[in-house]
Amino acid sequence: MRPKAELHLHIEGTLEPELVVELARRNRVDLPSFDPEVIRARYSFTDLRSFLDVYYENLAVLRTEADFYDLATAYLRRAAGQGVRHAEIFFDPQAHLSRGVPLEVVFGGLSEAVRDGEVPAALILCFLRDRGAEEAEEVLRAALPYRDLFIGVGLDSAEVGYPPSLFRRVFDIAASEGLRRVAHAGEEGGPDYVWEALDILRVERVDHGIRAMEDPRLVARLRDERIPLTVCPLSNVRLRAVPSLRDHILPAMLDEGLVVTVNSDDPAYFGGYVEDNYEALRRELGMTEEQLDRIARNSFEAAFVRGTESGGGA
Ligand code: ADE
Ligand code: ZN
Repeated sequence: MRPKAELHLHIEGTLEPELVVELARRNRVDLPSFDPEVIRARYSFTDLRSFLDVYYENLAVLRTEADFYDLATAYLRRAAGQGVRHAEIFFDPQAHLSRGVPLEVVFGGLSEAVRDGEVPAALILCFLRDRGAEEAEEVLRAALPYRDLFIGVGLDSAEVGYPPSLFRRVFDIAASEGLRRVAHAGEEGGPDYVWEALDILRVERVDHGIRAMEDPRLVARLRDERIPLTVCPLSNVRLRAVPSLRDHILPAMLDEGLVVTVNSDDPAYFGGYVEDNYEALRRELGMTEEQLDRIARNSFEAAFVRGTESGGGA
């Protein structure tokens, strides 16, 4: 299996139904069903919002440091089996703070799992854009005592109606703290959201970015500046950002010379981990080994933390 880095992965999106049930029992959380197959059967989404509703609801079972440790440890074990040599992992502190789970519990569990994990990894703190800029700034300030435990900040959750420009100040603060910067843009939002992420938030990678292809000037900018895009094909199909894998614009992005990477986003919900995404591109889109090799090489170039690739980094 080809070695790769995974750069777009929400740790909360790796919560498999079996672990939902195990953690619910451990924490005495009531669930509508304790049958993993019944939980899984609910995972048919019509768009990003309908997915996020289920994703946030399931988080009720995550309560203790041990829960976060077990979640991230399970992901890193699966990632190792998928050829992942390095992972940069998103987490959503506001989705836990809002349920009364303190930051120290989230950081404690996740950072211990990263320390002990089967794959070298780093954490990226994401702001939930639909909770606004003021709360994002509060979260960043509250997280600064844990500054050594994360390498960057990102922007996720419901995209349309929450343009990157709203978050200029919090990204400026992050930059001044030496944090790396990424943002979801161009998943459901248009190319204007990608422009704002680049120009206003000064992001160094764009998460998804598939709608950037609607704007040739933007494509040229991304190509010329070698700004990586973390594309998530199975996610795009399940959230109906594209009608089917066969319609995915990823091969055209590669032909344009963009630094495209392939990632799993929320693998417990979208039917596959990262190698499953590569495999689906091979099977459904007929992508060649040479193309998939290029995508895997891009993933190491696009990583913020280097030197973990077999063969040393770039
Ligand atoms: N949070 C988890 N997965 C996400 C996605 N694909 N887009 C935006 N926010 C997310
Ligand atoms: Zn995502």
